[in-house]
Amino acid sequence: MAQFHNVVIVGGGGAGLRAAVAVAEANPLLSVAIVSKVYPMRSHTVSAEGGAAAVIAEDDSLDEHAYDTVSGGDWLVEQDAVEAFVQEAPRELLRLEHQGCPWSRKPDGHIAVRAFGGMKKKRTWFAADKTGFHLLHTLFQSALSYPDIVRYDEWFVTKLLVDDGRVHGVVAIELATGRIETIIANAVIVCSGGCGRVFPFTTNANIKTGDGMALAYQAGAPLKDMEFVQYHPTGLPFTGILITEATRAEGGWLLNKDGYRYLQDYDLGKPTPEPVLRSMELGPRDRLSQAFMHEHAKGRTIETPYGPIVHLDLRHLGASVIDSKLPFVRELCSKYQNIDPVKELIPVRPVVHYMMGGIHTDIDGATPLEGLYAAGEVACVSINGANRLGSNSLPELLVFGARAGKAAAEYVQSLQTGPRSVVYKQGDDEERRLRHELGRHDDGTERIADIRTEMQSTMEEGAGIYRDGNSLEKAAVKLHELRERFERAAIDDHSSTFNTEIVAMLELSCMLDVAQSIVACALQRTESRGAHQRTDHPMRDDEKFLAHSLVHRQPDGSGRVGYLPVTITRWPPGERVYGR
Ligand code: FUM
Repeated sequence: MAQFHNVVIVGGGGAGLRAAVAVAEANPLLSVAIVSKVYPMRSHTVSAEGGAAAVIAEDDSLDEHAYDTVSGGDWLVEQDAVEAFVQEAPRELLRLEHQGCPWSRKPDGHIAVRAFGGMKKKRTWFAADKTGFHLLHTLFQSALSYPDIVRYDEWFVTKLLVDDGRVHGVVAIELATGRIETIIANAVIVCSGGCGRVFPFTTNANIKTGDGMALAYQAGAPLKDMEFVQYHPTGLPFTGILITEATRAEGGWLLNKDGYRYLQDYDLGKPTPEPVLRSMELGPRDRLSQAFMHEHAKGRTIETPYGPIVHLDLRHLGASVIDSKLPFVRELCSKYQNIDPVKELIPVRPVVHYMMGGIHTDIDGATPLEGLYAAGEVACVSINGANRLGSNSLPELLVFGARAGKAAAEYVQSLQTGPRSVVYKQGDDEERRLRHELGRHDDGTERIADIRTEMQSTMEEGAGIYRDGNSLEKAAVKLHELRERFERAAIDDHSSTFNTEIVAMLELSCMLDVAQSIVACALQRTESRGAHQRTDHPMRDDEKFLAHSLVHRQPDGSGRVGYLPVTITRWPPGERVYGR
């Protein structure tokens, strides 16, 4: 017997919870299910540190937030979506305030805002440096007050059910028991986050394996702008743990091996005693990560067993600023690096942090597949274009989670017909496939972990901060080989209870799809823009490539790439200027 819900949401992080509440508010009679492979409070939103951007200060304006976002994204941005985003973001953050989110405050009690990379006004709301933790708690608690939101915690969705171009639900496996269920739904909203684990060194939690992107891609929905992978300039070596950009907003410096603030050599402004907005350490992430690579090429980074590093210097901020504004940074440095940033330099290096690309959606989260919606990092609306500005992703998941929930609720109320029997048959087939995998005792010759490690190093070498045609071609060939080897992967664990090997296999299948889509798009885009830097095509080419890439999955796992024009409303393409 299949389960039924009006709306199924895949993923229980910030976007998923916000979408669920939006559906429940739109129509309390609708049944909403959140299906998440982890307990919602373990979703990756919890680890967001620095803050959430929204205009609140008197000297700021929606237009300035919009312009920073459009230019920061190197104009590969849907400007109508950005206009909606900047307008709705303050409302979303205030709503959280009313629900109890403990935003940090100024001495007079007003909301405090801090600077953030690429933003020319202070507009980033924060809750010390644990913003994601507090935001997710607030969302989770508010979702608990809606009785019609039910949760499938620790259930892994393995398939979207599609008939005649319309989505009718999902198949999912309960990790605690191995129970497999077909869950019929009138609409599905994918909110399962990004795919940083496709790369070897990332700020992303182990759970971020691109499952939602792959589910949609396999079901026939295109992925958009997958070549745009964001490296954050400051991760701890070895672990990849994020050291928030807020450290630099509070006045931290980046120093090369000679103790020199090297960013002054990269058209990002000159050193000043106080941090200057959009200057030096507060430049955008793509430029800062690229500057690190140049310093490395010039021999000015420091070699460590975990790769080259530079230093982040917070010592001049003093203990009281660090303890009040950056307590988590002090804790992370102490626990994971055994250093105290009050007295010591923090070793850092660029680390894969965020995916600008994702499931292609419109401004309301709708994908080209009827009944399928997406929001948050898994989706590409796109407000982030070729490079996301730090602190835009939390408001993005709120604004577009809410929009997707509302749109899905309207859609399901307009439906006249339910699923045909063929949908139930698809559910049965998927159940059979999963049972077969669980019980498979053949002699697979390949190890899942080996394929995963090779995939990750292939991506770093072939599609890292700088790429070229050659490196990408090689990566494409290697990924094809890895996909063939994946078919021969061994399964040794046949238990039904928390079978992590089956989960690893399902995740690897998703990651291979995502990796292939990234490489396919990066190969076709013969220009450099934002986070996509081709050494063989170093210039931006608006004539040919002021367009989103759209990739469709082919039966052999490779991607067919086409292009979609960018919506320009008020800001024609121009030069990205920082530090001046
Ligand atoms: O550095 C940070 O705190 C990251 C923020 C973001 O990615 O938005």
